[in-house]
Amino acid sequence: MTKENLIRGWNEDLAAELGTVIRYTYQAFRCYGLLAAELRELLATEAQDELGHAAFLMDVIQDLGGEPTTTPKPFDKPADLKGMLGLDVKLEAEDVANYLAHAKLTEQLELPELKLKLEEMAADEAGHGREWRRLLKGI
Ligand SMILES: [Fe+2]
Ligand SMILES: [Fe+2]
Repeated sequence: MTKENLIRGWNEDLAAELGTVIRYTYQAFRCYGLLAAELRELLATEAQDELGHAAFLMDVIQDLGGEPTTTPKPFDKPADLKGMLGLDVKLEAEDVANYLAHAKLTEQLELPELKLKLEEMAADEAGHGREWRRLLKGI
């Protein structure tokens, strides 16, 4: 494991975060019906969390000598609410897995602060996923 591999992995995480900020902002304005008010608020709040994650990754990538990506990862646009939330549950779970994997990699490079922060971000994503699953059950 090298620093370069870790930076490559973090740039993939960063692209996913930038995609999620755009996806949640986009989805917030695709919500209609009874759930729309609650959902819009949640999506807006979570988009802010994801922006914070993206900012952290940009900071550490630059700090370790890398060039942070500014290209968001593309995402699907399901037409209905169920499809939308299902996609969000799936992508949040992927983010959890990626952050936990990258947290393990930081152990080999002895970057304890980054390990803790990545685990905290994995926990944030797990919380987001739980929120979407809870809403999905009610649809
Ligand atoms: Fe995130
Ligand atoms: Fe998230």
